[in-house]
Amino acid sequence: MTREGAHPSPPSGALAAPEDFPLLAHEAAGDGGLVYLDSAATTQKPSCVLETLDAFYRTVNANPHRGAHRLGTAATEALEAARRDVARLVGADADEIAFTSGTTCALNQLAYGLAGLLHPGDEVAVSLLEHHSNLVPWLTVARIAGAKVRHIVPDRQGRIPDDEIDRVIGPRTRIVAVSHVSNVLGCIQPVERIVRAARGADALVVLDCAQSVAHLPVDLHVLGADFAAFSGHKMYGPMGVGALYARRGAAVALQPLLRGGGMVEAVFEQGFTFKGFPAGLEAGTPNAAGAIGMAAAARFLEGLGMEAVHAHGETLARRMAAGLAAIPSARLYGPGPGGAEERCGIVAFNVRGVGADLAAHALDRRNVAVRSGAHCAQPLVRHLGAEAVCRASAGVYTSERDVDRFLEAVEAARQDAASLMAAAML
Ligand code: ALA
Repeated sequence: MTREGAHPSPPSGALAAPEDFPLLAHEAAGDGGLVYLDSAATTQKPSCVLETLDAFYRTVNANPHRGAHRLGTAATEALEAARRDVARLVGADADEIAFTSGTTCALNQLAYGLAGLLHPGDEVAVSLLEHHSNLVPWLTVARIAGAKVRHIVPDRQGRIPDDEIDRVIGPRTRIVAVSHVSNVLGCIQPVERIVRAARGADALVVLDCAQSVAHLPVDLHVLGADFAAFSGHKMYGPMGVGALYARRGAAVALQPLLRGGGMVEAVFEQGFTFKGFPAGLEAGTPNAAGAIGMAAAARFLEGLGMEAVHAHGETLARRMAAGLAAIPSARLYGPGPGGAEERCGIVAFNVRGVGADLAAHALDRRNVAVRSGAHCAQPLVRHLGAEAVCRASAGVYTSERDVDRFLEAVEAARQDAASLMAAAML
């Protein structure tokens, strides 16, 4: 059994050994087996996370914050320790973190919970790079309030120019909601600059950190956002759990979306009072095993070092981008291979003359897993001039050898797609 802090040595070019990830070991990744390049959709899970989940249900399982018995106390302590670990990963304090079911839940909580601040004529600023989870909730609450959603438009490389920020964020802006890292292009957004503009307009800032926490050192106090959201499953933790960060002092602006047990202080026949943040946002039995598994993932990332994780993703993204740029049948989107901008291990591309889904099938035939489609970011994909794109996204288990096998598969994709089509017509 692999224990936390005792990981096998990674193969050349990977940051963490694929054998430490049971699914990758099962798929013989790194040895001519699966090349998993869909980590932006969900990362594979290291043994330390799986063992933590298993141990919770085998040895602790009880409802946190509800039982005075021994197991209830142990579950409460484990959940609160998890809150401290997850907070530390993002430079926050434990009482600034509420557990949610994921980024989508946290962003909906933020949109509905801040909707009372919006009035007719007010504006919510988002970027055109947003995942639908950081767009649709704002479109919904803005429509109800008679407010307007305005878009900060990036250039074709996914960069947001300063003058775009100043064009959109102004005296009518109440809320600015932007992603830290694009889930399609992997480019890092100028968050500090956006936060400065929002402060100048007296607007609140919501950050979608779903991709960034797995790729970058994130310090929410330094970034200065009021609120942030991220998921466990994209940072090597389990699905079905995530976190909502609220800067101390900002949480008072939030109304709870979910109401029920655990979030109330006092309930009367005709009314109630609810607890403050974070308990006030955690109605119902929490996904305690998930939160504890997410904390194991946070410790796993800390063990690798987020600077090293970032450098690894950037190196692999540059290798992917340079390789794609050199393949005549491939089209690269977003930052070019030699760009000076910082990026994460995510690259978007298409194979000329082949639909994105068919190209992804062709790559799958060579045991290379990438995602195709609009990646829950239709406005961005349209802005790129495409209907759909393929996306290769690396993780800490991805090696340079994996990238090379991916590039070989892209080079062969036109031919492989033609064979797939011919076979389908038989
Ligand atoms: N939000 C995930 C992605 O970008 C599913 O693929």
